[in-house]
Amino acid sequence: MDDQYETIGAKYKAVKLKPSVAYTEVAAVVGMLGDLDGERVLDLACGAGFYSRLIRQSGASYVLGVDMSRSMIDVAEAEEAAQPLGVEYRVADVATMPQFGAFDIVTAVWLLHYAQTTEDLQAMCRNIGRNLAPGGRLITILPNPDFVNALSETEFYNFRTRVLNPGESIARVRMDFLVEEPFSIEYVQWPLSAYEEALRLAGFVAIEPVPIRVSSQGLDKMGAEYWRIYLDNPIAMGLIATFEGLQQAS
Ligand SMILES: C[S@@+](CC[C@H](N)C(=O)[O-])C[C@H]1O[C@@H](n2cnc3c(N)ncnc32)[C@H](O)[C@@H]1O
Repeated sequence: MDDQYETIGAKYKAVKLKPSVAYTEVAAVVGMLGDLDGERVLDLACGAGFYSRLIRQSGASYVLGVDMSRSMIDVAEAEEAAQPLGVEYRVADVATMPQFGAFDIVTAVWLLHYAQTTEDLQAMCRNIGRNLAPGGRLITILPNPDFVNALSETEFYNFRTRVLNPGESIARVRMDFLVEEPFSIEYVQWPLSAYEEALRLAGFVAIEPVPIRVSSQGLDKMGAEYWRIYLDNPIAMGLIATFEGLQQAS
């Protein structure tokens, strides 16, 4: 699963333009971020830099994008070179990354579900905490733990999923993106409790799931009927947490 994005690169950019992503996930991230004026933001699993660029353009004073895939970072850096915003990028695995700084906000849009074990998940959350100033916020998008897989209706929204290990307690999922140049990824559909536990152990508090809604622009543009099936079984979930710091053992 680790290097699956090496061959995806630029193809991923097409996903963000689909109405089913632009008016749900993107709107949710923007809403969770709030006012970014002067904030220092670490964008983990930045991929081709979609959110890194959006965050910088929305007023953040400094943005560092980090991704384990060299080819995704190449796409992000090419865009930075073509239209410079001052966003910096690094190649690193979040499970083993160093401390890059003490950021106000860490974004991790579609990252934590790539952890293959609870140890990986805990290592990622620990490293996220190490990169936040006390009181700093983690903002994530994750697969909805309650999402029902293998329903062909989702093809209308340009994706399809299936469980690779039926009968086991934690689902491993394959998702096919049905865009102009199709591609597939695999991930773990962790229960909410796994994220909560890993974040708590890493010193996070106020861990809150944020349901994904359709923006008013999405409702106006596409009409309520377009969203009916999506909202019955949302693929994504937001999650916010605040880093309090690790308590010293006495
Ligand atoms: C679905 S893409 C999301 C990219 C970006 N956040 C966005 O929404 O446009 C997931 C990204 O996570 C990266 N990734 C997966 N596991 C990672 C890890 N352990 N450390 C760093 N990046 C990782 C992949 O290389 C890929 O670029």
